[in-house]
Amino acid sequence: MIKYHTPVLLNECLNALNIKNKGIYVDTTFGGGGHSRAILDSNPSIRLFSFDQDNDSIENAIKLQNDFPARFVMIQDNFANLWTRLSLERVKKIDGILFDLGVSSHQINDSKRGFSFSYDGALDMRMDISKELSAYEVINKYPYEKLLSIFYKYGEEKESNRIARGIILERQENPIKTTLELGTIIDNYTYSRQKLKAKARIFQALRIYVNSELESLERALNDAIRILKPGGRIVVISYHSLEDRIVKNIFREQEKDCLCPQNFLKCVCSKQSYISVLTKKPVLPSKEEIAENSRARSAKMRFAERKDVA
Ligand SMILES: C[S@@+](CC[C@H](N)C(=O)[O-])C[C@H]1O[C@@H](n2cnc3c(N)ncnc32)[C@H](O)[C@@H]1O
Repeated sequence: MIKYHTPVLLNECLNALNIKNKGIYVDTTFGGGGHSRAILDSNPSIRLFSFDQDNDSIENAIKLQNDFPARFVMIQDNFANLWTRLSLERVKKIDGILFDLGVSSHQINDSKRGFSFSYDGALDMRMDISKELSAYEVINKYPYEKLLSIFYKYGEEKESNRIARGIILERQENPIKTTLELGTIIDNYTYSRQKLKAKARIFQALRIYVNSELESLERALNDAIRILKPGGRIVVISYHSLEDRIVKNIFREQEKDCLCPQNFLKCVCSKQSYISVLTKKPVLPSKEEIAENSRARSAKMRFAERKDVA
């Protein structure tokens, strides 16, 4: 049987979470449940609440629910709704939280989901299939300017202009229905010799846009820091520079005790420092881990500890 997903930086995550007896922990990205199971196994007195918005992932939770009936709760939702969903579980404060961002190997390898240009599948890319917007609507209905801005903003692709024009021209003939059709258009409308990279960037851009990934991340990181107990840890593994930039910036902002412009003689913002960032540089996977699991190669882990401030 093909493995659903191999957890990345597993021991590093457990160390960074600094798991305490009787603590309440949250895994915001359950996936195949590798990190969740390791967190539960690491200490028999803790409780864990895990989130995932993907229906496929929820099936993996059944085994954990059977193995840890009193200590594990699975919540099928976007982690942007973290605060509300935990409140409904009567959880106001937590001891640690993990974000292992992006898509799972299962999502990438399942051609039906349309996340990968290497497999032929419908242009979908929704992590939560109850949502209406899919990559098909974006590619076939959005005007040129909107496509251009999505490709630049979320894919940082230099040839976005040519690719967006190509899509507009091609869809006048027939709707663009599959990942392979879109991949061929990107191939045909790029000059660069790095066609594979262009495809990866455009597919990344579509996925981020369709799932509002960066907006959810910003909201969830700020909420997570708010509900951490003093000494509690927030641990984030990101897989591309746009995610990592958000993590770095939010950590930096939440660590500062003043956000006034530099030319102000006196602080007027009363901002407090809420966290200490414990990783000046991100933790990266070892060569051995990358050799065993190629998905780990772009991983960067950052973590911080909540201070004792109201
Ligand atoms: C990299 S995988 C996590 C793998 C997991 N740590 C494991 O050990 O198997 C990312 C998972 O997070 C989920 N996900 C991504 N963004 C999400 C969001 N905003 N809300 C909830 N789940 C999300 C995806 O559906 C996917 O299953």
